[in-house]
Amino acid sequence: TESKLQLVHTHIRPFPDFPKKGILFRDICPILKDPAALTAVIDLFEEHVRKNHKQVDLIVGLDARGFLFGPLLAQRLGVGFVLVRKKGKLPGTTVSVAYDLEYGKAEAEIQEDAVAPGQKVLLIDDLLATGGTLYAACQLMKKQQAEVLGCMVVIELKELNGTDKLKPSQCFLPNSVL
Ligand code: PRP
Ligand code: HPA
Repeated sequence: TESKLQLVHTHIRPFPDFPKKGILFRDICPILKDPAALTAVIDLFEEHVRKNHKQVDLIVGLDARGFLFGPLLAQRLGVGFVLVRKKGKLPGTTVSVAYDLEYGKAEAEIQEDAVAPGQKVLLIDDLLATGGTLYAACQLMKKQQAEVLGCMVVIELKELNGTDKLKPSQCFLPNSVL
């Protein structure tokens, strides 16, 4: 596990002043480019889920980088994958929630029938900053009466205290950075 964490950690690239001045952007593209690092990150998520959750019905991924990791994990677990998208991207009847970003505003949306009442879901994204995005996705799940088991991200920006916003949801955050 330590070596997997290390491998993932060395594949996170910081970019100063992107997309705006003052933001230190953590780029996960190197993880995707290296099959060993990508396998390691999915292994870490899978180990966490198998150890901590007896039953998971769906993995819910956040637009856009949650889509890169979520389906790989869902397939390992043998469960389905559901998309939480930015507003206006999903066809059919949808449910949406507005939220604030570290650098802007947005609206998260799911298809009305994406989750059934009582289904146990785990949310996944690449990164936790203020927690606004995952919090909005949790609100969407609760609106549809799904049971949120927890949230998982590759990277936590620790100094923004995003986990406070997500309480009482459990968070799995293998890589913390300041
Ligand atoms: C980033 C990141 C998370 C979110 C984290 O996505 O991938 O989804 O911000 O920020 P928060 O914890 O403060 O809400 P972004 O909104 O930039 O969208 P993108 O994935 O479409 O680039
Ligand atoms: N990296 C990627 N996405 C982000 C970041 C970051 O540093 N901050 C907010 N969203």
